[in-house]
Amino acid sequence: MKERCQPFCQNCGRSFEALQYLRRCPDCGGLIFFRYPPGGTFHPGRGIWRFRDFLPLPSGFEPVSLGEGDTSLVPSSIAGDLFLKNEWLNPTGSVKDRAMSVGISVARAMGFRATLNASMGSAGLATAAYSAKAGFKCAILVPQNAPFIRVAPMILFGALVIPFEGTIQDALDFVEENCSKWKIFETTTHRPSNPYQNEGTKTIAYELWEQLGFVPDWVFVPRASGGTLSGIHRGFLELQEMGLSSRIPRFVACELEPLNTFERALKEGATSEEEIREISSRMNEDIETIGVKLAHAFPVDGVEALKAIRDSGGTAVSLSDEELLEALKMLTRMDGIFVEPSSASALAGYLRLKSGGLVKDGETSVLILTGSGFREVHVLAPPHLSSSLKVHDRKQASSVLKEFFGDV
Ligand SMILES: Cc1ncc(COP(=O)(O)O)c(C=O)c1O
Repeated sequence: MKERCQPFCQNCGRSFEALQYLRRCPDCGGLIFFRYPPGGTFHPGRGIWRFRDFLPLPSGFEPVSLGEGDTSLVPSSIAGDLFLKNEWLNPTGSVKDRAMSVGISVARAMGFRATLNASMGSAGLATAAYSAKAGFKCAILVPQNAPFIRVAPMILFGALVIPFEGTIQDALDFVEENCSKWKIFETTTHRPSNPYQNEGTKTIAYELWEQLGFVPDWVFVPRASGGTLSGIHRGFLELQEMGLSSRIPRFVACELEPLNTFERALKEGATSEEEIREISSRMNEDIETIGVKLAHAFPVDGVEALKAIRDSGGTAVSLSDEELLEALKMLTRMDGIFVEPSSASALAGYLRLKSGGLVKDGETSVLILTGSGFREVHVLAPPHLSSSLKVHDRKQASSVLKEFFGDV
């Protein structure tokens, strides 16, 4: 029989069976990572499952897939040597589909038939869609003020949607408690509660390496938990371990100005979960922002992501809503790409480092465009985008057209 992928504890080194359900190490509480049998290759075809030799689903089990991955990488018109990785093109419109395909596939192989998550949007939507595909029962806790436009597709996918009173942390604690009580798979995309899903995220690095034909100098990633950043970083580490590349890009976490946990952690030398938690405890998460998906003071994958930033020689930038909106307008008008404001933070971060001189001419940068703007149009309501959509009769329409087009 073919060797199987082996989960192991990063702290005490204990290894586990491929399909033993794990959150943290049952002995010491350490984080779980995976080792893969030697000789793995990238297979032909499309989507993340052509990388299955490096994903934690043992051979013989069918993945639960909606066609995620193999998103396009396009050069931007905004600057030379700037590339856009279109993760918003995934089946439910976000980067989380890669993680969810792996998570639900592993869950099915382990015999689970139900999922539970607490989510502001992307992970919840992905949970609902992949659970539907797998034939699972699914429940999602959403913030009590979650807009209906975000909740409606979850309901259509057949999920039980529960608006929940309390903070994000309260909801995550509730999810963990209930998943332990029943045989329910928690689809939170954070390593401390679900080590499987982040393995899906690392396939972005494999694709970037294939699409560019080299390793970029910089990768800009919007930051909430930090898991997307650390996942892509690990993908590059693995490419190096496989002998396919000789270096790692510098990683930049793009976060919100009022919730700049990484920026402060880098300045203050914080590395441990306790130190990161202490920094985030000084912040008020209850803010008005158009970068809704980034409104997390405590990055659950912070230890791993901060290490990735430091080891790669990267940094963190914190951005205002004005910068997010400006970046969003540049992406739409110059590149014809409509992402959500949270994702536009990647461009805002790049512009900051480029104008500050840290990103040099001739260096290649990639922006991870994590989520589709079409799902988050409501956050752009006036005053963010003012419009005068009043009704015109034929004569008025002709007159405004003439003024608009001029002598085109
Ligand atoms: C669209 C979008 N971008 C970025 C992020 C941040 O990802 P992470 O939590 O992995 O840092 C999220 C998180 O949900 C998201 O939905």
